Amino acid sequence: MREILVTSALPYANGDIHLGHLVEYIQTDIWVRAMKAQGHQVTYVCADDAHGTAIMLKAEDNGVTPEAQIANVKAAHEADFAKFLIDFDNYHSTHSEENKHFSELIYRRLNSAGHISTKDVEQLFDPEKKLFLADRFVKGTCPECGAEDQYGDNCEVCGTTYNATELKDPRSTLSGATPVLKTSKHYFFDLPEFEQFLQDWTRSTDRLQPSIANKLQEWFDSGLASWDISRDAPYFGFQIPDTPSDEPDKYFYVWLDAPVGYMASFKNLCDKRAGTDKALDFDRYWAQENENKTEVYHFIGKDIVYFHALFWPAMLAGSELRTPTGVFAHGFLMVNGEKMSKSRGTFIKADTYAQHLQPEYLRYYFASKLSDKVEDINLDLEDFMQKVNSDLVGKVVNIASRSAGFLVKKYDGKLSETCAEPALLEDITKTGDDIAAAYENREFSRAMRLIMQCADKANEYIDTKKPWSLAKEEGTEQEVQDVCSVAINIFRQLMVYLAPVLPELTENSKGFLNLDDLSFASRSEWLLGHQINKFKPLMQRIEKTSIDAMVDDSKASLAAAETTKDDSKKGDDKAKDKKADAKSADNADAGDYIGIEDFAKVEMKVAKVLACNHVEGADKLLQFTLDVGEDKTRNVFSGIRKFYEPEQLQGKKVICVTNLAPRKMKFGISEGMILSSGDPKTGLTVITLPDAAAVGDTLA
Ligand code: 2FM
Ligand code: ZN
Repeated sequence: MREILVTSALPYANGDIHLGHLVEYIQTDIWVRAMKAQGHQVTYVCADDAHGTAIMLKAEDNGVTPEAQIANVKAAHEADFAKFLIDFDNYHSTHSEENKHFSELIYRRLNSAGHISTKDVEQLFDPEKKLFLADRFVKGTCPECGAEDQYGDNCEVCGTTYNATELKDPRSTLSGATPVLKTSKHYFFDLPEFEQFLQDWTRSTDRLQPSIANKLQEWFDSGLASWDISRDAPYFGFQIPDTPSDEPDKYFYVWLDAPVGYMASFKNLCDKRAGTDKALDFDRYWAQENENKTEVYHFIGKDIVYFHALFWPAMLAGSELRTPTGVFAHGFLMVNGEKMSKSRGTFIKADTYAQHLQPEYLRYYFASKLSDKVEDINLDLEDFMQKVNSDLVGKVVNIASRSAGFLVKKYDGKLSETCAEPALLEDITKTGDDIAAAYENREFSRAMRLIMQCADKANEYIDTKKPWSLAKEEGTEQEVQDVCSVAINIFRQLMVYLAPVLPELTENSKGFLNLDDLSFASRSEWLLGHQINKFKPLMQRIEKTSIDAMVDDSKASLAAAETTKDDSKKGDDKAKDKKADAKSADNADAGDYIGIEDFAKVEMKVAKVLACNHVEGADKLLQFTLDVGEDKTRNVFSGIRKFYEPEQLQGKKVICVTNLAPRKMKFGISEGMILSSGDPKTGLTVITLPDAAAVGDTLA
């Protein structure tokens, strides 16, 4: 028996659980249930991620204390997880005594080992709100191209990245005030000291998926940087201990104490279970010397690999604690082939889904899509309906419904005393080994395929034997009972195999099968002479109307949210936060896909450069007069002055994005964008087209 501790990423305590979150919790829960079914001792813990500026501001918006805010959200999160049958052994909070204890312990150990240093950092400060502004809370005019209303880290118009302090006319998005520059002392964790350790750790067997290990190599190649782990007051978090008493208080940055929350939740569980027959020994899982006795796995999204595969193991190793056995990353959820969208009603909250559809449908659909790869998965709502209806209702439950009637009506629910098809049942028992291996390797889509192949075999067998025809013939009583008994036995095996994915269906089928035991080990036990109960429908088909109603409700809840406050922007801010944190190392975030419809929205035309000129007072820009096949020419500014003399581009055919909203710049209005390749800092090449390209033609 293996002793395994499993975690899912801790959701932030400032928003609802949505289907994107559920990919991870469902994936982890299925794995945990499957490993438990194999007889291992598995403990699954999680918690709310309760600290940080975003949560502090959300509480302020809601007019409650941060403590009340996180308590309300935790209750809502736990209720949602219960609906989706996520069976945590413990659900805790990072705002807890245990987490404070371990965050301080880790910090103190890192500090005394010389892994913490301090440095003065100059940052924008909101004089009204009296807080330092992270990049996402500052907007202003791009220092490169003059585009207005750009965030503090990069310009969405010209693509330049800069420091918030370089923005022109900066303003705080929190108060509208003009920020001032202020210096403050920050505490840094010396990540580069751990490079060799991390290189070895990354490469040791099966710890990371190959694509993640490759990403890490890229990060090593581009160099690791020290990590800023402190934030100034006001901040909702834990105060950093042992700082000089004559200096302002400092707080741990939320990402410092978040992963410690895994440990804290586990400790909280150990304390709860102390003295019971399910007691757990904390040190057995976290002390360095026990590293080989137990296993620890983190399931996470691909956007937070940097924190889990670099910072976290380095923090643990530096404080002489055990490091994770494995970190398993998954991709993002797309809905109908696109990023979840509030306006299209595909940003679906867990609760909204559960009001219209059974959570087990989604568990099955996700399982049928998930693999051990870091790929995005697509919830195509039409395919979802068809797959659930065809696989679960049409194949699996149908095996029971089409055979139980005969048995109950004609044989008082009694199965045959002997098995008519031992080879078929043995075949399905044997497939169980492959299914168990697929679960263990997180190849759930393979497990679901194998299970459906078993269901197909059962249905083919019933179709061949045709008990409904046999039942009309004389002297076939035994055969009808035998055929239906084989079918019921296979149904029972399928329930065993599907139990990690469909625990409720499996539980309900126990009543119908009149059985207590549907453990994995019981799959090879045949039901002979056993009496079953009357069949009651175990699962309903999905109706299109339910899906439509869910989408409509999701749109409506967006509209309601918008009339109260602008939540969506906060969500964007959070995404920006993650990007900013891992920016130096090019975060593995590849979730910004667009659908083909989005691509089609961009109108690109062949344009001829009629004139190209310097712009007085702008050393980055060139001004273009373009013929794009319209009545009037277009005036376009492009930030390529450093790389071209105007005459080089005169008369060339270029690509112009023609449906961008006109942009007011200091030097005039820009009525399009000229496409170039490269990096605005180091070199741009204007994309030119062959002479044969006709002015005004659309690119597609
Ligand atoms: O990305 C997030 O949603 C974070 N709240 C995940 C934290 S996971 C762990 F480190 F706590
Ligand atoms: Zn710009």
